[in-house]
Amino acid sequence: NANGAKAGRTRNILEKMDESGKNAVVFYGSQTGTAEDYASRLAKEGSSRFGLKTMVADLEDYDYENLDAFPDDKLAIFVLATYGEGEPTDNAVDFFEFITGDDVSFNGGSAAEDRPLANLKYIAFGLGNNTYEHYQALVRKVDAALTKLGAQRISAAGEGDDGAGTMEEDFLAWKEPMWTELAAKMHLEEREAVYEPTFGVAERDDLSADTNDVYVGEPNKNHLEGKSKGPYNSHNPYIAPIAESREVFTVKGRNCLHLEIDVSASNLTYQTGDHIAVWPTNAGREVDRFLNILGLSDRRHMVISVKGLDSTARVPFPTPTTYDAAIRYHMEICGPVSRQFVAALAAFAPDEASKNEMARLGEDKDYFREKVSNQYLNIAQVLERVSEAKWANVPFSIMIESIQKLQPRYYSISSSSLVQKSKISITAVVEEIRVPGSKPNIVKGVTTNYLLALKQKQHGDADPDPHGLTYAITGPRNKYDGCHVPVHVRHSNFKLPSDPSKPIIMVGPGSGVAPFRGFIQERAAQAKAGEKVGKTILFYGCRKPSEDFLYRDEWEVYKQALGESFELFTAFSRETDQKVYVQHRLSEQAALVDELLQKKANFYVCGDASNMAREVSIVLGQIISSRRGLSAEKGEELVKSMRSSNQYQEDVWS
Ligand code: 2AM
Repeated sequence: NANGAKAGRTRNILEKMDESGKNAVVFYGSQTGTAEDYASRLAKEGSSRFGLKTMVADLEDYDYENLDAFPDDKLAIFVLATYGEGEPTDNAVDFFEFITGDDVSFNGGSAAEDRPLANLKYIAFGLGNNTYEHYQALVRKVDAALTKLGAQRISAAGEGDDGAGTMEEDFLAWKEPMWTELAAKMHLEEREAVYEPTFGVAERDDLSADTNDVYVGEPNKNHLEGKSKGPYNSHNPYIAPIAESREVFTVKGRNCLHLEIDVSASNLTYQTGDHIAVWPTNAGREVDRFLNILGLSDRRHMVISVKGLDSTARVPFPTPTTYDAAIRYHMEICGPVSRQFVAALAAFAPDEASKNEMARLGEDKDYFREKVSNQYLNIAQVLERVSEAKWANVPFSIMIESIQKLQPRYYSISSSSLVQKSKISITAVVEEIRVPGSKPNIVKGVTTNYLLALKQKQHGDADPDPHGLTYAITGPRNKYDGCHVPVHVRHSNFKLPSDPSKPIIMVGPGSGVAPFRGFIQERAAQAKAGEKVGKTILFYGCRKPSEDFLYRDEWEVYKQALGESFELFTAFSRETDQKVYVQHRLSEQAALVDELLQKKANFYVCGDASNMAREVSIVLGQIISSRRGLSAEKGEELVKSMRSSNQYQEDVWS
């Protein structure tokens, strides 16, 4: 059972609500934690402002066949992220298929055959990214399905757009009129919001952090007891040795890591094109900052027991633990800060001036953008700037509630499972954002810098910690020792054709080349084994061959194995005055590309979603229309149908 910890809990949501005295449930379909976070915020606000008795629920933890018995004095809120190509998030797959199914049938005993959900009052909010084609597919389809089943929509569904970078503001703008309508329809009275902690945090003088029952980073009990076992998944990582790590850029100041993760001692398997999830650890410097501003530095290794103050509240990490470990391993302390959170913290400011400043930041969206968002400040930095005095009145519970759970990050695997069955390659550009005019002016990506620190540690670099990325290493049982990394595998639909003789065209600039290294490694091995391998075309782009040409020597080796069937087209963007991008090379090769497509070549794009992938898709439509003498619209349409038939596959991120 993947959700071992959840065994024994009821899957009947109505029973759960009854036994815990709830009248509103906020379901979430979440992949990276954002939807889950919004769900908690809605639940919290519903209870503090309107006196609703709210709970938050993971969609995969409950059954839906009895939703027709949902009483009409209760409320269901759905917070649903759309994932990839209009797909549900992993935890929402069953719900989505059920509710949008052709012959959905309920067993709760509703009399109304044609409108079985007539009593269900609901609200929906979707999270999506408008640079993807199937923007908000999930919430729109679920909203339509619920309405069709007779459910009562309380207020128009909201949509937050990550592509435009307005998710948070979309959410804030949507929820005010929503609360007004809800209050009117459910006869709720708004009251002065008072903060009520969701969690009780008890400091344990009786326990010491180096005993065997205190969690100092271990994600679950098996790990704590040193008996971790599979299945390894998003609830249970495998702590893998790093077999090899090296730098693959050839320029100072920018880094791209190549890592080999050894999964031979686990039962983890993968297929070429899958993703590997890396469970990060926060940078030591940021953990220190966070502890310091809350006045917790001296007590960082104090053992704490955290428990939900009502039966539906879930503590997002295992306890007992320590302040340090909870923050370091489980809280997204470097994530973007919401206006609402800043406003909520005003009440706990160390003095009147800071309180007013926090309130202003909370209210004035332009001021907030200028002072916080545009500078990519994290929450501890915001507090530091508003007041250097310790924020010792901030309840730790509000931090646990308001800061997202630290999430694993997914990387496209850059090896072939045929060639390296138990060694998984990762190719990752180390991320940092430069913010002109701000201090500090470099914001570092959490996970890629964690991986970089692991690499430096493994190589015993002279200065292994140039960025203040120190990691607490506590207890002999703890494998967070700088040589291991917690991982699991996520299966994807980004796949080679099963018949290797089929031609393929791949477009992958930058680290978007990762899965294609796997694809080509696989085809080279197949060719060596005497199999017939079809045309294998790669469009690769980077800045300059002397700086960031990934796997430059390896392509030669694959070329020897694949011969004529392998062709590499390169686009160097900073070698000449004019930018040359992969899509320009694609246009130049229009004849070849179209010929292969006519021969049913699969077409793959990997990398940046917001510009590159969109432009490649447009260029492909143009190639098809001009080569085949069709209208521009027809060209676009053909690309669309290639997408729906999976001839066109994307693995993109923004
Ligand atoms: P640039 O940074 O010089 O603009 C990998 O990041 C490569 O992708 C780089 O050469 C980068 O070029 C290029 N790139 C940037 N924007 C792109 C776009 N819209 N389409 C294709 N390639 C792009």
